Amino acid sequence: MKSKVYEAQWIGMAAERRGDNAPLLRRRFALCGEVVSAELNICGLGYYEAWINGVRVADHVLDPAQTDYTERVMVVRHDVTGMMAAGENVLGVMLGDGWYNQNKVWVEACLWYGEPRLWCVLAIRYRDGREERVCSDEAWRCSAGPVVSNNVYAGEVYDARREQPGWNMAGFCDDEWERVVVMEGPGGRMELQTIPPIRVTQTLTPVSIRGVGEGSYMVDMGQNHAGWVKIRLQGSAGTEITLRFAERLDDAGMLDTSSTGVFATGVEQRDRYICRGGGVEEWEPRFTYHGFRYVEVSGWPGAFSAEAISGRVVHTDFRVAGGFECSDERLDVLHRMALWTHRSNVRSVPEDCPARERCGWLGDANVVCEYSLWNYDSRSLWEKYLDDIETTRRLHGGLPCNIAPGKRTCGMARPDWAMAFVMIPWYVYVHSGARGVLERHWEGMTRLIEHLRAEAAEWIVEDGYGDWCDPGGDGLCTHTPPALTSSLWFYQSARVLSKVGQLLGETAAAEKYEHWAGQVKAAVMRRFYDAARATFGSQTGNAMALAFRVVPEEDEARVAAALVEDILGRDTHVTTGIMGLRYLFEVLSGHGHGDLALALMHQDSYPSFGNMLARGATTLWEGWGEPEHDLAHGARSLNHPMMGGYDNWFYTTLAGMQPDETQPGFAHIYLRPMPPRGLAWVRAWHDTPYGRLVSAWRNEGGEFVWEIEVPAGCRATATLPFSGRQCRLEGGTYQLRDTYVQGGRV
Ligand code: BGC
Repeated sequence: MKSKVYEAQWIGMAAERRGDNAPLLRRRFALCGEVVSAELNICGLGYYEAWINGVRVADHVLDPAQTDYTERVMVVRHDVTGMMAAGENVLGVMLGDGWYNQNKVWVEACLWYGEPRLWCVLAIRYRDGREERVCSDEAWRCSAGPVVSNNVYAGEVYDARREQPGWNMAGFCDDEWERVVVMEGPGGRMELQTIPPIRVTQTLTPVSIRGVGEGSYMVDMGQNHAGWVKIRLQGSAGTEITLRFAERLDDAGMLDTSSTGVFATGVEQRDRYICRGGGVEEWEPRFTYHGFRYVEVSGWPGAFSAEAISGRVVHTDFRVAGGFECSDERLDVLHRMALWTHRSNVRSVPEDCPARERCGWLGDANVVCEYSLWNYDSRSLWEKYLDDIETTRRLHGGLPCNIAPGKRTCGMARPDWAMAFVMIPWYVYVHSGARGVLERHWEGMTRLIEHLRAEAAEWIVEDGYGDWCDPGGDGLCTHTPPALTSSLWFYQSARVLSKVGQLLGETAAAEKYEHWAGQVKAAVMRRFYDAARATFGSQTGNAMALAFRVVPEEDEARVAAALVEDILGRDTHVTTGIMGLRYLFEVLSGHGHGDLALALMHQDSYPSFGNMLARGATTLWEGWGEPEHDLAHGARSLNHPMMGGYDNWFYTTLAGMQPDETQPGFAHIYLRPMPPRGLAWVRAWHDTPYGRLVSAWRNEGGEFVWEIEVPAGCRATATLPFSGRQCRLEGGTYQLRDTYVQGGRV
């Protein structure tokens, strides 16, 4: 950021006076002329809310974005010109703990950065050219506010009796308030926040409310999600309402918090509200969020109804950039479930789950990134996350950690999780065409692969979490050896880096990595490939090997046949975890087995998505719902986006939209739908950097009718699924027709 804004200081409330409170900070200032522009640059750590003359500045929540604060902090810029008043004005800020002062969970790992603190500059320009700045400095005053305590995991306590009406407006007497203390900055470089803000994006109404005791109610929001609830009530001063949150109920219909990770965090997700009294009160928390479908309300005064409570869906508010629907309701449900799960898990960081860990695990991000890019304009999220990985690796010896950002790193990344650092830049590049992301991370990516090369024994990478959460696996893979998946990722990363090297003019490196890829491939074939049976021994092994084109071309059909045989031999069930799920469906369709892919989506017995749905899932589970996990290891989360890799299949295969990596950013597009027998129609769209791409087909009485919209400036090669005829298209609208052949190509 430009140096002119550095005159501000970091300020806060003295720790011994603040306790757990979210302090209020205020500053009066007078305007002396006609304002032509006013811009607020602000960073309140961990979270802030700001007001000018009693009006909230913007509709962001949980601002600013989470980072490694000792390395970088995000400054949020707001145009507040319209908020200035003649004469006396007041800038008011409430400071939450957020991730900066997260001192209640995983305390032993010391995730704490410091006391909450504020930095801001309000830059005002007058009509006559004069400029003025209102900065955070010792002239500010502070006081304890109504948020008595707040923590991202544990929840918020709000005592409405402690509200100070008018505190953020002119005319309020702050004589009793104390002086702020000037603090050290967090240490990190200040960057302008460019990722879209977190917002309340949707409000849910309860689908059922049940009395569970005197003043106690069980509320079902009908949808597992992340955010909080807003309540509306009337009670006497001091009446205390407790809200507890969970993803499911126990057999007795009471709240079961085990899947929210209490065993790991040591805290329940719980908010408390204490009434001010004397009229209708409305409240929602501001410095916490919960992963939940059910809310247990207790201590409620008087009658309780659906109007008294609503669910607030909270996530990074990126633009929707894709849509898919088809004639098969099951696929539509699974698509929506993947999106609910992804949205539940993005608040400036791609999280693993919104209740238990809330961490940016790299392996999860690797399998989520592509379907995120199809559905949302989320490039800025992934670019920010890559910078998070950069900062974390800088802090920890140059190699990625398992998690970024934050102090909970869980150590140096295991090889397969680390590979996200090579793959995500590539996905972003292919989808956006932006080379900068490759240049920016070239050094880190190559350092990582050189490290893996040094660790590999005879080109095989032994270590890894593996095909995480395969059926029965309790995390540890039971069906596919981690050495196979890690080595396949090593191969894929070497190939990607070879391509990146070519693009960046690093020819020697490119050639070296291409050579490495060849060596890894040969080693994988030697160690894991059973040539006689044409198999790598598991569904995930075969699906990934086919997707990464490791299999010799002449063997591909046989490996696909082995994959099919394995699935059918298990009565149409998967043995895949998060990695297999990313590739299985595309590979089956790509080898002429789309009907089987569809059948897997319709399977209802364990392990299957149908089984999750039958057991009430509204977001994807961490694993397949093995009963033994609940008993032995604490229940798993019910909101884990890493299981959603299948969502790519809807776009790339059923609708058949594929970016061409040699002309990235959809400059050239391959259009190649692969219709399984059971589908009557598919309609998908995606907003490419050039504009909207549409692929929609239907089976019209034996004729395949395909409507296509290619954005201006793009070219596309469309392949008709049955005749194999190819058409070269440019920006425009087309209708192509083919004779529908049940079961595949003529
Ligand atoms: C997380 C996962 C993560 C894994 C790796 C889990 O606790 O929730 O999503 O990738 O650990 O060990």
